[in-house]
Amino acid sequence: MMTKPTGTTTAAGPQGETRTEAQWLEIAREYSFRGRMDKGSFSGPVLSEGRGSVVRDVNGKEYLDYNSGQMCSALGHSNPTIVEAIKESCDTLIHASSSYFNVKEIELARRLGEIAPPPLKKSMFLGSGSDSNEAAVAIAKKYTGGFEVASPHVSFHGMSEASRSLTFAGWHQGYGPMTPGTYAIMAPYCYRCPIGLTFPKCELACLKGSMEVLDAQSTGSLAAVITEPLFSAGGVIEPPSGWLGALKRACRERDMLLIFDESQTGLGKLGSMFACEQEGVIPDLLSIAKHFGGGIEISAVITTAEIEEVVAQRGLVVGHSHTNDPLPCNAAIASLDVIVGDNLPERAREVGKYWRSHLETLAVEHEVIGDVRGRGLIQGIELVRDRHSRAPYFEAGKAISRHCLTGGLLLSVRRNGSVLRFVPPFYSTHAELDRAADILDRGITAAVEELSRAR
Ligand SMILES: Cc1ncc(COP(=O)(O)O)c(C=O)c1O
Repeated sequence: MMTKPTGTTTAAGPQGETRTEAQWLEIAREYSFRGRMDKGSFSGPVLSEGRGSVVRDVNGKEYLDYNSGQMCSALGHSNPTIVEAIKESCDTLIHASSSYFNVKEIELARRLGEIAPPPLKKSMFLGSGSDSNEAAVAIAKKYTGGFEVASPHVSFHGMSEASRSLTFAGWHQGYGPMTPGTYAIMAPYCYRCPIGLTFPKCELACLKGSMEVLDAQSTGSLAAVITEPLFSAGGVIEPPSGWLGALKRACRERDMLLIFDESQTGLGKLGSMFACEQEGVIPDLLSIAKHFGGGIEISAVITTAEIEEVVAQRGLVVGHSHTNDPLPCNAAIASLDVIVGDNLPERAREVGKYWRSHLETLAVEHEVIGDVRGRGLIQGIELVRDRHSRAPYFEAGKAISRHCLTGGLLLSVRRNGSVLRFVPPFYSTHAELDRAADILDRGITAAVEELSRAR
């Protein structure tokens, strides 16, 4: 861990001036926008530095970053290989016209094509995960000639107009009409089965029923289903074995394309290079984002040579001013160097196993933990008022998160407070994971006591 600076409660601003946290927040109150994930108030911490698994705020206080930033710093904050690539691009070419190919973009496409599950091979590079999902949907529309797209009801695909239209885990209300032809299907949320059945006896009735409803709603222009292989923002919900394959068959029966949004699950986090490989189900389009650029914004859509040929012939154009820019492409090449070179999928399995043993121990000690789930680096706990009724304990998650923040652990609160999600970086050490578990243990105890006193 970083050593704490001594005796300072200030952090240098852009001109080297120092300000206290209160002063930074005062400026934020005047000039900054609050419309952001999980942040509705002008409050600390105000972050200023990060190395590896740790970020530091302007007071010099350190936090284990078990959000990995916004899931983008999973290679560790300021990973030296990424820093080197950024510096190299600053000396060569930062931005280039996307009307021309550039060497970094071509090299990145080759590198990604080599690790993508066949027949996925051809890539384009965009900025955010929302961008790549929009691009994937646009490709599916151009290819099929349809426009109707469905996504499970606990999904998260981004906050752009089209991706928000397919995001049903929340963040959906109050933005006016969504993109025409976007539909929700039932997600296989087995801990709270939407139709009250139990896997495997259910024989995936949720999917069968969803597709019947989709057929009934369709105007005859079905294009695609987009899904995460593990619903992360929706509450760390894992589809039961066989669901992804059954979904692919349901798409094929309707001439729909299948899009996997592997923004979070791709590039090693779940213990294999791509999550879909664990079930042997290869989609028609796969999107990646998050730690792809090692902290620099870049996303990709990968598809087959056949789909690329058809949509290119039909004049598909998707992209932005910064599509295929050399600097983020170079950062992504460096990130692939790290992911492949250090066998990060294996590290994710190892870190995940160790962290899981902590979560399971905590579940034995704390009644409030109703379920422990997830894989590799994406794991979560669902909080319940009692294990018999499984009534979600929304207040508990918010209170635990507050205590963990005080204790020096960052995590995310999902499903309105009833799920806590942890995404520790790949290089998390056992000592750091032990410390995080200890902070979480104390946070749960303090929150439960506080809530029972308040009753
Ligand atoms: C699965 C998934 N898809 C897409 C996105 C959107 O990515 P971005 O925020 O980079 O637009 C996210 C963001 O959390 C995500 O978790």
